[in-house]
Amino acid sequence: MPPQTGKEDVFVTPAEHGDPLEVLPPQLQKERQRLEKLFTVDTEMLKKITKRFGEELEEGLQKQGQNIPMNITWVTSLPTGQETGTYLALDLGGTNLRVCRITLKGGDAEVEQEKYSLPSSIKTGTSDGLFDFIADSLQNFVKDHSSDSQEDGELLPLGFTFSYPATQDRIDHGLLQTWTKGWDVDDVEGKDVAALLRSAIEKRKIPVKLVALMNDTTGALIASRYKDPETIIGAIFGTGCNAAYIEKCRNIPKLKSYDQNISKTGTGNKDDIMAINCEYGAFDNSHKVLPRTPYDEAIDNESPRPGEQSFEKMSAGLYLGEIFRQAVVDMWRRGVLFHSEPGRVDQDGKDRKNIEEPYTIDTEFLSQIENDESEELADSKRLFEATVGLPNGENQLKPLSPDGQELLFLRNLAQLIAVRGARLCACGVSALCQRQGVTTGHVAADGSVAIKHPHFRRRWEAAVAEILDSEVGKIQLTSAEDGSGIGAAVIVALNMAK
Ligand code: BGC
Repeated sequence: MPPQTGKEDVFVTPAEHGDPLEVLPPQLQKERQRLEKLFTVDTEMLKKITKRFGEELEEGLQKQGQNIPMNITWVTSLPTGQETGTYLALDLGGTNLRVCRITLKGGDAEVEQEKYSLPSSIKTGTSDGLFDFIADSLQNFVKDHSSDSQEDGELLPLGFTFSYPATQDRIDHGLLQTWTKGWDVDDVEGKDVAALLRSAIEKRKIPVKLVALMNDTTGALIASRYKDPETIIGAIFGTGCNAAYIEKCRNIPKLKSYDQNISKTGTGNKDDIMAINCEYGAFDNSHKVLPRTPYDEAIDNESPRPGEQSFEKMSAGLYLGEIFRQAVVDMWRRGVLFHSEPGRVDQDGKDRKNIEEPYTIDTEFLSQIENDESEELADSKRLFEATVGLPNGENQLKPLSPDGQELLFLRNLAQLIAVRGARLCACGVSALCQRQGVTTGHVAADGSVAIKHPHFRRRWEAAVAEILDSEVGKIQLTSAEDGSGIGAAVIVALNMAK
C-alpha cells in the first residue's frame, strides 16, 4: 500500500470537485497549512509510534511499575458461551454509574439496568462520597429489582467494572494506581477499591457478594468472546482509551512476583493464559515519539495529572473537543478568527458557554460539524451560535458566529483532529496484533467515539492496514457486547465455576 497521511480522508468533497478550501483568504490558508502540518500523522510516523508501543508493552510485561503497566487481571480462562446464571454488575464509567442485573442464558443475555449520572462533585470529591453514592445506588436497584426466586439470606454475586488502572493481587482486589479521565477523588489512589466498595455494601447490609473486579476493556473482551470466538482484543475508544487481550503466562515474566496467587490459581504453567489490561493511555509519557502539538501540551499542563496519560490525551473522546477549543481560542486571540462579525449580544443564549472555559466543546460537537451536509454549513453555524460565545468585555457573551469561510476552515480543523485521533488509536491495537502475531480477527470496541463517531471505524481500519501492511478489514472493528455489564457477569460466572 502506498504511504498515506490520512489527509485523503479529510476532504469530504470528492477530489474532482477540487479543493473546497481554495476559497479561504490567504491568512486562513496559512493557518490551515500550519494546522495540517501539526495534526497530520503519516504512515511512517504511525509505524514508528507502533514500534515504540510494542517496546513499552513488552516492558510492562517484564517488570512491575513500568510506564504502560500491563495489569494482570486474574481472568485466566475464556468463556465457552455456555455460562448461565443471574448476576449483578456495577459499572463505574467516566460519566455514569450503571447498575445491572444480568441473566446469562448460555450465549444470550438479558439485562435490566439503571443509569445514574455522576455529578462532578462526586468525580472530584471524597472517597466516602464516591463509595456511598455507589452503594446507595446499588441498594436502590436491589430493592427495586428484587426477584422472588432469591431466597432469604442468599447473596447475589456482583461484578464491579472499574474503568481505571488498578493493581490486582486477586480477582476481587485492586489498588487504584492513578485516577484518569479528569477524575480526582481524594484518598483513593493506592487503596483497594474492592475493599472500599465491600465496606460500603456491608454498612448497608445489601444482600450481594463482590466476586470480581475488572476493567471495562477486560469486560469488553470477555463479553464479546462469549459470543464471538474471533474476538482478539477488547478495546475502549470513548472518554478514555485502552485495550485488553489474552497473553500466554510464559510471556509474562513479572508473574513470578505473584507467586502466592499463581500456586492458588494454578496459573503460571507455560500454556496458561491471562487477560492483560494494558492501560496504554499512558503510552509515551516520556514524550519520545508522539507528535504533540502546543494544544496537547496545554491540555496536559492544565489537567489534574500533568505528565500522565499522554496518549489518551491526544486520542480519546474526553479530549478531542478540548483540542479543537484550544486551537480555536488560540487563533481568536491571535486575531485570525471571528473578527469580521460585529457580535450581537442576545438574550436567549442562556445556556451558552464561554469558549474560554475548558471542555465547553465535546466530541459530539466535532462529529456534528464534520457531518454537516446543510447548505453553506448553516447547521454548524447554528450549533456554534447556540453552544459557545465570546466575551464582549461587559461580562456578557456574544454568540460565536463564524462566517462561511471560517466554517469551512473550522470543519477542516475538526476533521484533522478526528482523523489524527483515529489514526493514533490504530497504533495501540496494531502493536498488540504484532505481538500476538495475528493478521485477522475482531477488535471488540465500545465507547462513545467508536460507536457514535461516523467515520472513526473506517479511518481506524485503514490506519491499521497501513501499519500492518495488510488489507483493510482484516483486523476488523466490531461493536463490543456490553462489556461492563455482560462481561462482568461472565467473569463472575467463570470465577464461581472454579
Ligand atoms: C482508564 C482505563 C479505561 C479507559 C477506557 C482510561 O482512562 O485508565 O482503565 O479502560 O480509560 O474507559
